[in-house]
Amino acid sequence: MATKALTLHNVDAYYGDSHVLQKVSFELGEARMLGLLGRNGAGKSTCMNVSVGLLSPRGGSIELFGEPVTTLPPEMISARGVALVPQGRRIFKSLTVRENLIVAAQKPRDNKHAPWTTETVFSMFPRLSERKHQMAAHLSGGEQQMLAIGRALMGNPRVLLMDEPSEGLAPQIVAEVMATIRKLKESGLSIVLVEQSPKLVFDIADDIVILNSGRIAVTESAAKLRDGSTDLAQHLGVF
Ligand SMILES: Nc1ncnc2c1ncn2[C@@H]1O[C@H](COP(=O)(O)OP(=O)(O)OP(=O)(O)O)[C@@H](O)[C@H]1O
Ligand SMILES: [Mg+2]
Repeated sequence: MATKALTLHNVDAYYGDSHVLQKVSFELGEARMLGLLGRNGAGKSTCMNVSVGLLSPRGGSIELFGEPVTTLPPEMISARGVALVPQGRRIFKSLTVRENLIVAAQKPRDNKHAPWTTETVFSMFPRLSERKHQMAAHLSGGEQQMLAIGRALMGNPRVLLMDEPSEGLAPQIVAEVMATIRKLKESGLSIVLVEQSPKLVFDIADDIVILNSGRIAVTESAAKLRDGSTDLAQHLGVF
């Protein structure tokens, strides 16, 4: 059986009394990309939060490369190789571009891939290199997104979770960010790409999961959904 990088099994998650994820299960294969789709409020970010330990599930389990991580705190999950590019970027605005990268650096846990360093991040994002001594607050939205991705890579993750990286960006910048994500996938990283628009993920992802009101509505290969015969409008609205 192919190795699973990240597995959520029957995860139940709550904010207070509000039952936000209901028996959510999905599997991200090693070196694959899973596109996680759903309307506003469907529970996509909550799936990311439970995957990195920011929210403890009240039921179900989470495994990383076959090992349980369900009850681990965020710093231990991060140390095991999961990095999140959060929705809204959340870079440190009062630090420089370079400082944002340095504070996130972690040693790689295997020799499979060349480690990410400030130099390799700057060669992937030359625009960040040109601005390395600028305060992050002064970057454009697209540059901030690139910095958020670069910062996650500095943790030398095995699993990269990206929560709506295209949000609020002009189409040309979205295309640039997507080209970068494609390169990361080709490098063998296991990736969850959260988006609202299927257009952005159908071409690039291997597998698709659609959440609807905190429940899994669709789990299918991207190839199967690309042909357009499955009715997705009921889960995603107009797109
Ligand atoms: N910190 C919180 N406290 C209480 N409720 C929350 C909290 N964060 C999210 N929720 C609620 O949980 C549900 C799922 O939210 P979540 O942020 O996971 O959705 P999402 O699919 O990421 O949406 P979006 O596309 O708008 O980012 C929503 O009903 C939301 O209002
Ligand atoms: Mg969200």
